[in-house]
Amino acid sequence: MADLPHADIQGFILRTYAMPVLRVFALKVEQPGAARRFLGKLVSGESDLQLATAIDWTTKPQYCLNVGLTYLGLAALELPASSLGSFPEEFLAGAAARAERVGDTGESSPQHWKGQFASPDLHILLFLFTETEDILEQITRQLRADYSSDGAMSELSLHDGRSLPGSTAHFGYRDGFAQPTIDGGLPPLMPDVLPKAPAGEFLLGYPSQYTDFTYLVPVPPELGRNGSFMAFRILAQDCHGFEQFLTDAAHQTGFDRELIAAKLCGRWRNGVPLSLSPDSADERILLEQRNSFDYVPSDAVPDAFDDHRGYRCPLGSHIRRMNPRNSTVAGNGGLKHRIIRRGLPYGPPYDPANPDDDVERGLLGLFIGVSLKDQFEFLMSDWGNKGNFAPGLRNTRDPIIGDNSMPGATFLIPSKGQKRPIELTGLSNFVTCRGAAYCFLPSATAIRYIANLSVIPATGARD
Ligand code: HEM
Repeated sequence: MADLPHADIQGFILRTYAMPVLRVFALKVEQPGAARRFLGKLVSGESDLQLATAIDWTTKPQYCLNVGLTYLGLAALELPASSLGSFPEEFLAGAAARAERVGDTGESSPQHWKGQFASPDLHILLFLFTETEDILEQITRQLRADYSSDGAMSELSLHDGRSLPGSTAHFGYRDGFAQPTIDGGLPPLMPDVLPKAPAGEFLLGYPSQYTDFTYLVPVPPELGRNGSFMAFRILAQDCHGFEQFLTDAAHQTGFDRELIAAKLCGRWRNGVPLSLSPDSADERILLEQRNSFDYVPSDAVPDAFDDHRGYRCPLGSHIRRMNPRNSTVAGNGGLKHRIIRRGLPYGPPYDPANPDDDVERGLLGLFIGVSLKDQFEFLMSDWGNKGNFAPGLRNTRDPIIGDNSMPGATFLIPSKGQKRPIELTGLSNFVTCRGAAYCFLPSATAIRYIANLSVIPATGARD
């Protein structure tokens, strides 16, 4: 088992905080020295506000604070050129430059992003999770005072997320079942039957999911090691369009609309996977049993139903695309592109009685992995927006997060006894990206390293 220094690793990489309130601060570095001091205080113990690490909790804290730095943020903090150049190319380019690759086109393209997310001024993201609204406001006041002190940083925008009743996300699905369990990390919240993910799939400096391969660690090692990367996304959800689609698809097929919802996701809206219960949202399957499944018999679940054709869970459903588990996919990479998901919904619950309320709602999504390219971008481009990785998908896309704006976009429901799958038409883009950032998640040691950088002002470049 990997021996991980939990006190050095940002908490949200290894732990689900299960806190109902989130505020994301998008900040610009104005005074590099003062900004470095602000960051340093978060890990020095000299301020009330401390970075949340993955260290053991005896009592759960009232808030957790985490930090993400964009590439331009690292440059604004005056990291040496040798360090800047040691980060991977997709991180250097940033989310806006990589938008097309992940399907952020049309309404999702950076020109429409809000909160200055497409701006080169986006340098630092702070993620503040709290137990209550009062704590949120109290810590916000403290943070604001600290990051504006000495003109260190200015605020570009704030983004608030709140849990919804019943741990659901918009579209009404219960969330929070599937997460990779990391070797050397914390015990999973839900029993997880899949093999543990090697630490190096989520943390820099450890052997990865590929044999004899470790992702390059940015230099110096105290900067790179125990860090990770994150794609942060503000994803607006068209709840009315989604519900309308379910109604239309139910008319098209004669299926119950809840069955259509389950086929699109791979889980019923209460979280029961189709793989365990193909005909009903069987409440007798307990919450803790709802992640114990596979799509084919495997070492993980030898007695799994052999669903290689997708009769129970369509091959193109959201969760089967995002994690095909042990089913056959191109490159045999079913368990090689896992991702940690954190975040919270934003906006009020959707009220079907008031469908056109003109209020934006969606997800503040944090997608974490050691390689933005091999995890987040791969999921979005190869598995989310292409159909050639598994047999029978044709050129369909993820029905929930894929780009389905082209005419004739379809979703296929394989059906036993029928030669051809049932083909749902009338899909649209139910999710629109409203802002995105690629962040480096530095370890506590890395933040100390950044805080202690001494800059040679004459050239601006140091080694
Ligand atoms: C608003 C946008 C999204 C919605 C509504 C959504 C919805 C869901 C739901 C309901 C689940 C099942 C809950 C669970 O298994 O714990 C799920 C699982 C998952 N989603 Fe999404 N999702 C969204 C965006 C994304 C994005 C952008 C990605 C990829 C970067 C992603 C990757 C995954 C993965 C990996 C799983 C777990 C699959 C598994 O391990 O079985 N999702 N999502």
